[in-house]
Amino acid sequence: MSVAIITGSAGLIGSEAVDFLSSKFDTIIGIDNNMRQYFFGADASTEWNKTRLEENIPNYKHYAADIRSYETVKKIFEEYNTDIDLIIHTAAQPSHDWAAKEPLTDFHVNATGTLNLLELTRLFCPKAVFIFTSTNKVYGDNPNLLPLIEQEIRWEIDAKHPYHTEGIDEKMSLDNTTHSVFGASKVAADIMAQEYGKYFGMNIGVFRGGCLTGPRHSGAQLHGFLAYLMKCAITEKPYTIFGYKGKQVRDNIHSWDLVNLFWHFYKNPRQGEVYNVGGGRFSNCSMLEGIQLCEIITGNKMNYTYSETNRIGDHIWYISDMTKFKRDYPDWSWKYNLDDILSQIFQEMKTRV
Ligand SMILES: NC(=O)c1ccc[n+]([C@@H]2O[C@H](COP(=O)([O-])OP(=O)(O)OC[C@H]3O[C@@H](n4cnc5c(N)ncnc54)[C@H](O)[C@@H]3O)[C@@H](O)[C@H]2O)c1
Repeated sequence: MSVAIITGSAGLIGSEAVDFLSSKFDTIIGIDNNMRQYFFGADASTEWNKTRLEENIPNYKHYAADIRSYETVKKIFEEYNTDIDLIIHTAAQPSHDWAAKEPLTDFHVNATGTLNLLELTRLFCPKAVFIFTSTNKVYGDNPNLLPLIEQEIRWEIDAKHPYHTEGIDEKMSLDNTTHSVFGASKVAADIMAQEYGKYFGMNIGVFRGGCLTGPRHSGAQLHGFLAYLMKCAITEKPYTIFGYKGKQVRDNIHSWDLVNLFWHFYKNPRQGEVYNVGGGRFSNCSMLEGIQLCEIITGNKMNYTYSETNRIGDHIWYISDMTKFKRDYPDWSWKYNLDDILSQIFQEMKTRV
């Protein structure tokens, strides 16, 4: 029997992974305790997505386990043991602002939870492939030190800088910078995942995401930029832009493209390798550009205000350079660009808000 374990299976990336992999494995085990509702309130609950998976995917089995509990998760690994071929670990506390409210909870979920899973993989299924969804926030504020130029509706990097063509690569330093409490707990997990790959020779990929997005994002004000923006555009709820004149740039990758990329890694894994992943130059926008697109797609004028204070840990301009991943996995490429992503979020959200 071939088993894949997906943590955070009711979340954006986890649920996309369940959909994508259900035909490729005999059994898909989902681990998700809907902690997203605790983080961001009832609006951000992922219960609807868990129910959808249980109703539509016959080989899906859900455990409402908490990844902070080593003993609880150990029971699952004990049961499936060496049948486990793949672990995709997406469960997390994903927001800067929330992490500062409860640093211990944030660290226990992001760092200790990841260590629990790495250790259980080492003990029960050391040949399995382990995929860790890290974040570009491990680079802290360092991207904000790049030579950026203000344009009419976006920040851009100086055309002479080596990052101009493809974006920021994996050589950017993690040191001497403010990461936010969230960024620091993800750094701990990111380094530990690399270590299990390098030290124990396990098949581990660490993927430092830009904005990961898609139609199944339970968008909340503190997390899920495009999904929350679209939610406000549809409902005409007020939206607040925090700092940088609304010209801050993010690259956006569709959850399907990301999970497809994980699949390429699974088929030809490496040991503790790190990759920046995002929409790159192919799919990115500033806040103001995102607002313009939402207005075109919904036909509604957005009701937004501007607050001078930027979020701590926010990047002014971040575009992921995916050259390293594309070099190692040349058959992979993006399928969905920004227009596709926003149109799909719109279609899905119309039925949910
Ligand atoms: N969405 C983004 O823009 C983005 C960007 C970079 C990195 N990431 C990383 O990618 C991963 C997936 O992000 P996402 O957007 O799918 O997040 P998400 O919040 O949609 O999904 C995460 C899921 O994990 C669950 N969860 C949280 N704590 C748990 C716990 N203690 N035990 C069990 N389940 C728990 C939540 O209930 C939620 O359903 C995260 O690690 C996140 O840090 C996301």
